[in-house]
Amino acid sequence: MKKYQFILVPVLILALMTNVKLIGQNRTIEEKVDSLLAIMTLEEKIGQMNQYNGFWEVTGPAPEEGDAKQKYEHLKKGLVGSVLNVKGVDEVRKLQELVVSESRLGIPLIFGYDVIHGHRTMAPIPLGESASWDLKAIEKSARVAAIEASSVGLNWTFAPMVDISRDARWGRVMEGAGEDPFLGSKIGIARVKGFQGDDVSAYNTIAACAKHFAGYGFSESGKDYNTVDVGTSTLYNIIFPPFKAIVDHDVKTVMNSFNILNGIPATGNSFLQRDVLKEKWAFDGFIISDWGSGFEMIAHGFAKDLKHVAELAANAGSDMDMESSAYVKHLKTVVEEGKVDIRKIDDAVRRILKVKYELGLFDDPYRYCNEKRESELIGHKDHHDAVLEMAKKSIVLLKNEGQLLPLAKNQKRIAVIGALAADKNSPLGSWRADAIENSAISVLEGLEKYSKNITYAKGADVITGSATFINELTINKTDRSGFQEAITLAKTSEKVILVLGEHGFQSGEGRSQVNLDLPGVQQELLEEIYKVNQNIVLVLMNGRPLTIPWAEEHIPTILETWHLGNQSGNAIAQVLFGDYNPSGKLPMTFPRNVGQVPIYYNYFNTGRPGPIDLVFWAHYTDEKNDPLYPFGHGLSYTEFEYTNLQIDASDNNVIKVGVTVKNIGKVTGEEVAQLYIRDKVASVVRPVKELKGFEKFSLEPNESKHVEFTLTSKELGFYDQEGNFIVESGTFDVMIGTSSQKGLTGSFERQ
Ligand code: BGC
Repeated sequence: MKKYQFILVPVLILALMTNVKLIGQNRTIEEKVDSLLAIMTLEEKIGQMNQYNGFWEVTGPAPEEGDAKQKYEHLKKGLVGSVLNVKGVDEVRKLQELVVSESRLGIPLIFGYDVIHGHRTMAPIPLGESASWDLKAIEKSARVAAIEASSVGLNWTFAPMVDISRDARWGRVMEGAGEDPFLGSKIGIARVKGFQGDDVSAYNTIAACAKHFAGYGFSESGKDYNTVDVGTSTLYNIIFPPFKAIVDHDVKTVMNSFNILNGIPATGNSFLQRDVLKEKWAFDGFIISDWGSGFEMIAHGFAKDLKHVAELAANAGSDMDMESSAYVKHLKTVVEEGKVDIRKIDDAVRRILKVKYELGLFDDPYRYCNEKRESELIGHKDHHDAVLEMAKKSIVLLKNEGQLLPLAKNQKRIAVIGALAADKNSPLGSWRADAIENSAISVLEGLEKYSKNITYAKGADVITGSATFINELTINKTDRSGFQEAITLAKTSEKVILVLGEHGFQSGEGRSQVNLDLPGVQQELLEEIYKVNQNIVLVLMNGRPLTIPWAEEHIPTILETWHLGNQSGNAIAQVLFGDYNPSGKLPMTFPRNVGQVPIYYNYFNTGRPGPIDLVFWAHYTDEKNDPLYPFGHGLSYTEFEYTNLQIDASDNNVIKVGVTVKNIGKVTGEEVAQLYIRDKVASVVRPVKELKGFEKFSLEPNESKHVEFTLTSKELGFYDQEGNFIVESGTFDVMIGTSSQKGLTGSFERQ
């Protein structure tokens, strides 16, 4: 291991030296960064702003020609600041060695990767985890991911995605925390804490990245990469808050975004990157572009060529270029032509070096390269235990009529039907980092551990052909050859567990859909089974809200299980057999019909919110207004009663609201009490409801708890049209309850 030496000589002399390994002891990071910056050439500075994708077999011989050869040369010359998608101690070490020993200054690389919901041991998809509303569990899940990722040489994840989205057609909703900025902020903070820990320089923590700044979740018509055109109220009050929250919690990096925002691509948007992020919010980490998003400004019609991209992106404050090569190819010329001020380059490089220092890479570039840790920690049993806990907490009981669940342990003749029941791959979800294909415990495997009375029939495939690139042709819309076997099995069974939903790759980046129904022939299969046996437990497995109005009307019991990761089948079986009482609450509204999308609980009233006559009010003529399942909805095997709403508004600055929650059922259960407010009259119209507090707790039968929330100006205020945070006096409604639609209501005056 090569240690950096600090050489106390004047900067001038340093500037003449080559291959200087310069780092001081007992100096602040800022001082060290300045010293280093002072001896860097313009080319070397720009090199730090360049990120390449993993490009050749590091363990193999150096490439002799083409793109890889050029990148290899750039590494040796110090023209690369970071790489992504290179992982494994051996690979990381070799690449780091090349840069540290061959480049003039030996500035270590930072190694980034999309560790979105686990590295090797997969946790539930982020939308699923968010349904737990359990911040400690979410933090732990991110911690586990960081431990595994850091043990394979990585020191930076491109997560969490904190894009709020109200549109289930957008495939990337699986990657976020759903539709609400308050919940999304809390979850974002938990994830950053989990990844970065208390000390980001520790060998088992990694830098996090808030993405995608900004507005990506509001792509028009839910089509990925599409135009984003939002008003200031939505931008400041819905889109920005989770980013602001985690910038305030010291997230080390931010990723910009593919989309345009009100006409300006995010990568070339200095309002977003300079005015808001770096100035107003005083963000002191660095901004990475999204993959080729600089280059894509040409297609947007914002930049005329790659050179122009370099100028626009650098001026707008995009510090590191992921895979556009705009900076490495053109930034030097652009600076020399006076189109980008050198101070902007220095600022970008300072930010990047600062994060590298904070990660401890200058103390030891191989800090994250430890074969022993790699072999001991990857897929460790403790990690599986943690993701199992997380998976159980992520499950949402949507409906349980006739108490079909939990199943009795001695339940006879259980039919398990659906291709997803036996699928060991789909539960790993999209964005699966280094997961091993087919490594999830399937629902069938989980159930078979509980009971010998289980018989399986596939019924129908979800997709046919290649899973990775799902399109309308790969969804199984025609093959019903397994129906008969499933129907016969259902006929002779006491209960039927039907596992239906989406293949694991049906959501995620580039997987937008116009249809949210059960894909392919699965709806038909459900209806055919229902004809012969109505004791159906529908287990949904999916990466986004689905439209299942027929199931809601006919099927007595419905369980939302998302894509739960490696321990999927164990978690689902424990819930089905009652060893774990479900406690999840929806982080995103489930529509009745895709035509209602975007649909969300915190909407604004129109001037005609209710039926004033048969025609002229805000409604659809062919569908109800309300959702199938609202935000915050989720049942339990027990029941909670809310009484005694108390409001104390005597102190304007700390208003207290509380309720008593009692478990009036027969089993212990966890509840999430949710607090919503409505600012009745304001200078900028406020939503009909806004989540401003929640608490998750467990109650035994007959046990009760007084839950109290405080409302300060932070919760009662909002951003005006200029982005100023203001708090106004007036009447506020409050509701505390079990979902966004059910609770005790009251109101108070804020003087
Ligand atoms: C995604 C990012 C991701 C990056 C690197 C892009 O396509 O939008 O979220 O971090 O690729 O894999």
